[in-house]
Amino acid sequence: MISGRGSNMIALADAVEQERIPGAEIALVMSDQPGAAGLLRAAERGLKVLVIERGDRTREEHEQEIVAALVEGQIDLVCLAGYMRLLSGYFIDAYRGRILNIHPSLLPAFPGLAAQRQALEHGAKWSGCTVHFVDETLDGGPIIAQSIVPVWEEDTEETLSERILEQEHLLYPKAVAQIVRGEYEVLGRRVLNSQ
Ligand code: GRF
Repeated sequence: MISGRGSNMIALADAVEQERIPGAEIALVMSDQPGAAGLLRAAERGLKVLVIERGDRTREEHEQEIVAALVEGQIDLVCLAGYMRLLSGYFIDAYRGRILNIHPSLLPAFPGLAAQRQALEHGAKWSGCTVHFVDETLDGGPIIAQSIVPVWEEDTEETLSERILEQEHLLYPKAVAQIVRGEYEVLGRRVLNSQ
């Protein structure tokens, strides 16, 4: 599920194509934004795309339509990749433990919007990215995998974001492969590699 550029979605599609996520298939690329650049990139690659706009509906009405489409498409795992909406309990219940997200910081530091800017402004010396399960909290679900990158003194929001994004493209496919292979166990907040 995307709302914008879709570079993480493409990284996942590449990984599937190159059999780095054995057994996986990108069944659907869904966006709430008809203008999302990633939709075009997905369609160019022959992936099935679907736009479900919220319009003036409530969050739950919007999500009911999305969940119905996911169920109909027999989707097993939902990967949020720059999807810019919070999911309600309704969605999370329908796909509990089967929704992943990638966030451009070392959670629990800097949840929410503009995480790279938050890290810079806070003066962090290291940042990175996190793949986590999605629960009702904002970027707060159990952590599956993280990568770290240095923050340089000359960094701007753009240069730091680029450095983190490179790691995102490596980390997300690896984390999805671990989940798809079922090589994990969730103990409270801890996601253990069970391999
Ligand atoms: C990424 O930085 C991701 O961590 C965050 O939103 C951005 C999406 O980028 N959740 P893209 O659309 O995958 O290029």
